[in-house]
Amino acid sequence: MAVDLKAMFNVDEAAIQDAMDILRPFENLVPIVIEGNEVMLPENNSLWRGMQFWGLMTGQISIDFGLFCIAGTCKNCKSRIRRPGEDRKLSVLACQTMAEPGIEITRLPQGFRFVQKLY
Ligand code: FES
Repeated sequence: MAVDLKAMFNVDEAAIQDAMDILRPFENLVPIVIEGNEVMLPENNSLWRGMQFWGLMTGQISIDFGLFCIAGTCKNCKSRIRRPGEDRKLSVLACQTMAEPGIEITRLPQGFRFVQKLY
């Protein structure tokens, strides 16, 4: 992993270990936009796992875990996305779609919530 999560997010080792336990190996984070908010998600991982990661690192995403299989069968993670350079929006399963630079999630699945933090 090329990124220093501890320095980037000011989190402790336990939070980093929790994140590593749910993620596939990755070297870098890639920029994604979620309902107008820019986030950085691990490459080589699904949008679902990436959003879980962002929630662990920042507290900005909460997930109702009981709603999701994270295996492509329940379809509850259906999301609307727009790929970079494309106008049309696509309906995809967040647990089956890899995080790629510039993807915009225009509508989160029910059970995901983006929490704006006031600093
Ligand atoms: S979480 Fe069940 S299909 Fe994605």
